[in-house]
Amino acid sequence: MKQISKEYISGFEIIRLKEVESTNLYVRACLDKGLDLNHGTIVLAEKQILGKGMGDNTWDSEAGKNLNLSILLKPQSLPPEKQFVLNKAIALAVSDFVMTIIPDKEIRIKWPNDIYIEDKKVAGILISNTIKGNTLEDVIVGIGINVNQKNFPQNIPNPVSLRKFSKKKLNLNECLDSLCIFLRRRYEEIILGEIQMINSEYISRLYRLDEIHNFKSGDENFTARIIGVSEYGQLQLRTKYGDSLEFGFKEVEYVI
Ligand code: BTN
Repeated sequence: MKQISKEYISGFEIIRLKEVESTNLYVRACLDKGLDLNHGTIVLAEKQILGKGMGDNTWDSEAGKNLNLSILLKPQSLPPEKQFVLNKAIALAVSDFVMTIIPDKEIRIKWPNDIYIEDKKVAGILISNTIKGNTLEDVIVGIGINVNQKNFPQNIPNPVSLRKFSKKKLNLNECLDSLCIFLRRRYEEIILGEIQMINSEYISRLYRLDEIHNFKSGDENFTARIIGVSEYGQLQLRTKYGDSLEFGFKEVEYVI
């Protein structure tokens, strides 16, 4: 773990690492050691040896081709029960960024916070929170964006990179600058209390919103329509029989 430089972009303090197990774990380890990392610190790695995905998944990313970063946030004004707002704001920021690079394709947020270009995943987000008393003490927001990678391992479901749609290889530093601008804007919306706007934009960008599709829950396959996402982040579906269902993460799968 060798830190090669430190800089600021849009008010975020950037720590660049050549190689690390996982940027999320690196931030966690710093906090556990009592290092005083500031709100808004971003740890960026050229290579992750054990990138973490949601649940038990891993995040595979070819060294030097993509953006792999974790942001430390200390959102003291956001009560723990409102933490899903942060997921929405981050997903919106990453999708804002993807939209500027690929303006002519449909960019969607696949619940809870994967970023899709048409039917392919271009970015994933992994958020872990530490709650102390009635405050979110620290939040580690891990973001992986496939930027210039051309080939992906067979076992990754539906991967794609920005490079597939951009006419040329993308400059990772320019991508980071742009992403940071959107992250700052969306975070400020939370601070300014623009929660209704975040909620409605998140819903309007949802992948497969209000369309009839197949889903899988346990051994059961069924057809339903996404009708929304609850305040606590549950996916809300309506079946063709008119039943309303709610699922937490990993309780339901999209059949794509
Ligand atoms: C997912 O889609 O399952 C979430 C993927 C999150 C990947 C990022 S890459 C930077 C950060 N460090 C990690 O170990 N994971 C996140």
